[in-house]
Amino acid sequence: MCGIVGFTGVQQAAPILLEGLKKLEYRGYDSAGIAVMSDRSISVNKCKGRIARLCEKTGDGTDVKGTTGIGHTRWATHGAPTEENAHPHLSNDGRFAIVHNGIIENYLSLREELTADGYRFESETDTEVIVHLIEMYYRGDMRDALIRTTNRLSGSYALGVICTEEPGKIYAVREASPLIIGVGAGENYFASDVTALVSHTRNVIYLEDGEFAELSTDSIGVFDVLGHEINKKITRVMWDVQAAEKGGYEHFMLKEIIEQPAAVKATIAPRIRDGKVFFEELDMSYDDLRDIRKIVITACGSAYYAGCSGRYALERLCRIPVEIELASELRYNNPLIDEHTLLIVISQSGETADTIAAMRECKARGASTLAIVNVVGSTIAKLADHTIYTWAGPEIAVATTKGYTTQVAVLYMLSVYFSDLLGITEDEKPYVRALQELPRAIQQAIDMNPSVRPLAKKYHRSSALFFIGRNTDYAVALEGALKMKEISYLHAEAYAAGELKHGTIALIDEHQPVIALCCNPAIMEKTLSNIVEVKSRGAEVLALTFRNNHKILSVADDLLFIPDIDPVFSAVVEIVPLQLLAYYVAKENGCDIDKPKNLAKSVTVE
Ligand code: BG6
Repeated sequence: MCGIVGFTGVQQAAPILLEGLKKLEYRGYDSAGIAVMSDRSISVNKCKGRIARLCEKTGDGTDVKGTTGIGHTRWATHGAPTEENAHPHLSNDGRFAIVHNGIIENYLSLREELTADGYRFESETDTEVIVHLIEMYYRGDMRDALIRTTNRLSGSYALGVICTEEPGKIYAVREASPLIIGVGAGENYFASDVTALVSHTRNVIYLEDGEFAELSTDSIGVFDVLGHEINKKITRVMWDVQAAEKGGYEHFMLKEIIEQPAAVKATIAPRIRDGKVFFEELDMSYDDLRDIRKIVITACGSAYYAGCSGRYALERLCRIPVEIELASELRYNNPLIDEHTLLIVISQSGETADTIAAMRECKARGASTLAIVNVVGSTIAKLADHTIYTWAGPEIAVATTKGYTTQVAVLYMLSVYFSDLLGITEDEKPYVRALQELPRAIQQAIDMNPSVRPLAKKYHRSSALFFIGRNTDYAVALEGALKMKEISYLHAEAYAAGELKHGTIALIDEHQPVIALCCNPAIMEKTLSNIVEVKSRGAEVLALTFRNNHKILSVADDLLFIPDIDPVFSAVVEIVPLQLLAYYVAKENGCDIDKPKNLAKSVTVE
């Protein structure tokens, strides 16, 4: 996720663009840039690092002349955070500059075509193909050039474009990435969200997918993919800047829970081609995999629990033994790891000290390493032999949600990819279809639990909560319990349901509510008997299960639901009602949800 801004008016553009980018830094902050037009030429200033560096570089924008411009603050997905990869990107002839938020899924083939046509690429980004397409299609009519260009793109994009042939104008295009027009007096704006606009104007026009806008100092034209002008209503924004950063949600954590369908889609969709899983960033061969005798997954916190959930799919589809090791333990275990081990390292930040240390230990013992990280160019990404990025966008809340679900989604895709490479799965199409269904299933899990708020009111004063489950449900119970602890400060414990009778059931009474995860039909009867066991000792039971699971519905006191889904890929769906439950319990307890006490988003020290 990145932030884009555009301005055209009578004021100098650069300072306004920089101010707007500062308001969008929460959307991405590893590099930034502005392009400003003056006397039919475009000057581009960009740099690695935070907006503050770009301000230093341009005298807070005062060194850059021109009243028309675009700006960008980046969260890297394709290409490390460097000055070359920062936006805006210029066409070879210097007439066009663009900024982009989103992912162009077919950029590789477009890059090959444009390179063959003689276009020179300056960056590793997916975005750069767009500006060369515009140059290729421009014949004096920007609308026509933009329509032809976007007809070639697949993926998501919010675009900002300026052209030296069209002085005083800025162009905006929206497809599956938010883009809003700010309606000013003698000036007009666009931005990724209202945060960058409300200090100038509260009159905005929300672009819809497939809509284009042409803005000048005193006119706004919006048209569709056929070039037909469309009337758009002006909306008055009542949010303050703070609320706008959270997209109107009270906390970043809730915003990021709700973003999960989009984050998982952004992570999966570009990697499904012709009915197969395809990792362009992996150059592993059959022989590489055949030499692997075991997979070890190592991480910390929720990333570790993501590994616990992903391991079932890896073992079921690849038939390779998978061990899960806490990084803070693995590094001191004198681990039995050698050149026949594939070490999968999971980390949202890519900077967690224990995980880095464990990774170095295993590399020294000959393991090949595959990192699953969210931050492009992070330490773990650089250390790994292979790196797969989760395209979740920046995660601001300390307690991870979309980071976790996109990590598990990558593990699911890896299991299908490896299984195909090893020739184990006859027909992977059902698995690929199941992967493509996940974003919708996650959305359903969000929508089908209006009871989560009243349930939070009911359970928020519990002295302790027990999360129980078996197999894939147990792995999700681990993350569900951690979410509850992290943000609501309630003591919560995840327990393998089959283990209750070996000790913990001594704790169960009417004061210890039990949250039972019952989303794996193969072991449903067993978990049902555990529910009966704890109920007979007075516990109230909140069950998480399918709507048509009548046996569970008849014994549980309260219910949360997920849509029907194969348990091998269910963790990314099952965890959502538990994230929401933890969120609303924390809200009831008046906790600092985005910044829980004693916790850090990334623990870069031991
Ligand atoms: C903790 C975070 O500090 O570190 C967790 O609060 C996270 O959300 C854990 O799962 C591991 O961090 P990372 O960046 O390596 O995934």
